[in-house]
Amino acid sequence: MGFLSERSRFAINPLEEDDAIAEALERKGKEIIKLNRGDPAVYFPTPQYIKEAYIEAIRESKTHYTETRGAKELVDAVMGRYRRLYGLDLNEDDVVVTAGVSEALYMLNSALIDRNDRAIVFKPYYTQYIPYIGLAGGREYLLDYKENEGWGIDIDELDRHVRRLKHKARVKYVLLTNPNNPTGTVLSRKTLEGIVDLANEHKLLLISDEIYDEIVYNGARFTSIAQVAKGVPYVILNGASKNFDATGFRIGFAVVPGRDALSKELKAKLADFASVRVSANAPAQYALAEGLNNVVEHNRAIRYMVGEIEDRVNFAVKLLNENTSLSTVRPRGAYYIFPKIDLKGLHFKSDKEFVDSLLKSRYVQITRGSGFGTPGHIRIVSLPPKETLGEAITKLNEFCRRKR
Ligand SMILES: Cc1ncc(COP(=O)(O)O)c(C=O)c1O
Repeated sequence: MGFLSERSRFAINPLEEDDAIAEALERKGKEIIKLNRGDPAVYFPTPQYIKEAYIEAIRESKTHYTETRGAKELVDAVMGRYRRLYGLDLNEDDVVVTAGVSEALYMLNSALIDRNDRAIVFKPYYTQYIPYIGLAGGREYLLDYKENEGWGIDIDELDRHVRRLKHKARVKYVLLTNPNNPTGTVLSRKTLEGIVDLANEHKLLLISDEIYDEIVYNGARFTSIAQVAKGVPYVILNGASKNFDATGFRIGFAVVPGRDALSKELKAKLADFASVRVSANAPAQYALAEGLNNVVEHNRAIRYMVGEIEDRVNFAVKLLNENTSLSTVRPRGAYYIFPKIDLKGLHFKSDKEFVDSLLKSRYVQITRGSGFGTPGHIRIVSLPPKETLGEAITKLNEFCRRKR
């Protein structure tokens, strides 16, 4: 590999590989419908009151470094949120503000993973979990979400694998994504309780990425790991990107509420990581603090956005269900749909071939399931307005009819 480090090979995003094809088509004047990026702020402008707070922070010259672990205003606002939503009493030391959940993942993996350690991750997974594990020298241990059970978790299977794995390597954490990207699943309270019991028995650390915890619909009830944790050490990840519709702010946070020895050691080390990188973006932190504190404005904004998302997702699922080459589990959270493709019936060798062929012939860009660890599927981002979704899915359905 020449001059670069060996581990730098993990810094790769397989979901961007089709961007070059799309760009080449655009240069030829083709208009591409893009259902491949999960960025809400492209379709729903960041709420005005949050943008005003950002501008106000700059006007007040709050453009200097903040406290390394996060501006006090934001840390207090995060504590307020968890008290309000989940009855969780946090100390200031339990919160570390990061440049998005992405930086929190970097810090956590760097803090926890040694060479050959394992991290249990369920697939399909949010793609970016994997590079951070590899960069830290560890390896992901992949288990399946169960598609025929609404992409749920089989606790007995998890138990069997943890028992087997314990003799071979150290399991540093079990990662949950709830609600899920790319399946849109909201885990049941019962499942979470089962995982907590198992974590208690095997002394496992749980990391729960709850970045979509307010984007829940179709009658689903969200349970945070905080509501069932019963003394198990855990980390919650969340931030500005999804609930506050501000992906470009690059602000997230890790919450480590436990009073046990592992939690104390971990939160202190995350604070060290925060001090090494000096500070997160200052105005964006003050803006998110206002986003969290102004409950009236936030509730108005999130209710509107989630209502629209529910409508768009259900519209898309209805159209997808007309396609006999796809089978779709109806999402109940986030804004992704993850149908299974009948590759054989359509005479495709792989999901990549399917996705590339759709892009090149119908100018619709979606993402291959294998990029999330689950081949034979596609991920559709259901954020655009219904006219756009309708046009794209009609093209997708027509494409499949022709290929049969
Ligand atoms: C499950 C999940 N976690 C984390 C992220 C990234 O979060 P951030 O923008 O805070 O880095 C995403 C973005 O799509 C996501 O889907």
